Amino acid sequence: MTHSVRDAFARPLGSLRLSVTDRCNLRCRYCMPETDYTWLPRESILTFEELTRLTRIFAGLGATKVRLTGGEPLLRQDLDVLVRSLRTIPQLTDVALTTNGVLLAPAARELRAAGLDRVTVSLDTLRPERLVSFARSTRHADIVAGIRAARDAGLGPVKINSVAVRGFNEDEIGDLLEFARAEQAELRYIEYMDVGGATQWSPADVISREEILARVGARFGPPAPVQRDNGSHAPAERYVLPDGTVFGIIASVTAPFCRDCDRSRITADGTWLLCLYADDGVDLREPLRGGATDAELARIIGEGWSARRDRGAEMRAASPGRAALHSLTSLRADPRREMHTRGG
Ligand code: GTP
Ligand code: 5AD
Ligand code: SF4
Repeated sequence: MTHSVRDAFARPLGSLRLSVTDRCNLRCRYCMPETDYTWLPRESILTFEELTRLTRIFAGLGATKVRLTGGEPLLRQDLDVLVRSLRTIPQLTDVALTTNGVLLAPAARELRAAGLDRVTVSLDTLRPERLVSFARSTRHADIVAGIRAARDAGLGPVKINSVAVRGFNEDEIGDLLEFARAEQAELRYIEYMDVGGATQWSPADVISREEILARVGARFGPPAPVQRDNGSHAPAERYVLPDGTVFGIIASVTAPFCRDCDRSRITADGTWLLCLYADDGVDLREPLRGGATDAELARIIGEGWSARRDRGAEMRAASPGRAALHSLTSLRADPRREMHTRGG
């Protein structure tokens, strides 16, 4: 049975992001620029049974969409087993995965067979040597192979996430769109956000939606906004080019979408965060492992959501002299403040 809860601003609890591991095999400079990290203790990581149980309870409170994230979710062994288990929850209409693509090609078919609907692959550059300097990885070809394998396995339309960063990939804005079009994928440009983990963030490095639109328009002709579906909570605004190519922009920095935000996230150790920017979360692991019943867990989650007033990106946009959200000291004090731990 579903009992849909609303938060203090009448936003539904619609979309749940499950971070299945805090580990990552890349070191993107906007997310994991440091040399050392504090990892969540192994025994604190939720099992597939625990993740499924929690998701079932969230679905009973209105969640219909689940997205698996990380770190890099494909580093979690047998992820298809989790997908299969989540697919037994009848309310879920969408089970998706956000991945860096490195390990995607060999996994795509099994994930599709297990019931995964679609994938989003992060790819910020088309130049292998740039991936080395920007993400400390030589696996560019594997990422491209992953995008193709996902499309061929029926996990499309594949979305490609490109974070636009000044001085890094601004000269590839057009090329990335060209690449996505050729791969029948939908590109989404993401404004570089001052989230936890982005310790080198500075406003000067953000390439705004306006600038992206101007650059795209200069090369491909004027982009026209695509009408949003009624009741859509998607963070991306979509545009269509004169030739019919559709792309998106996620403008969390210059045009936050908090008023429509229906998402929350669970870290790999079972901490429930009601906003990407939240300092702290609700510990669900303790009651989960301490013998709480489903009804008790549903009460904790329902009460937590009903009281939710978060609008982190809007608050950031309003804060003068904005700099990186967290210092290294603050991130070390609680690694759940890291983007790679809370899963974007
Ligand atoms: P769709 O279901 O396809 O709409 O997926 P998505 O766009 O929600 O997921 P994805 O993992 O691809 O995230 C895209 C970008 O949106 C990333 O840069 C995320 O960090 C950012 N993002 C995800 N959740 C939030 C959020 O709650 N608030 C803000 N401001 N940004 C978010
Ligand atoms: N700004 C914007 N997007 C980010 N991501 C990670 N860190 C940042 C940041 N500082 C993105 C990744 C991935 C998604 C889950 O979050 O590129 O596509
Ligand atoms: Fe890059 Fe994603 Fe890994 Fe962060 S979690 S380092 S954004 S691949």
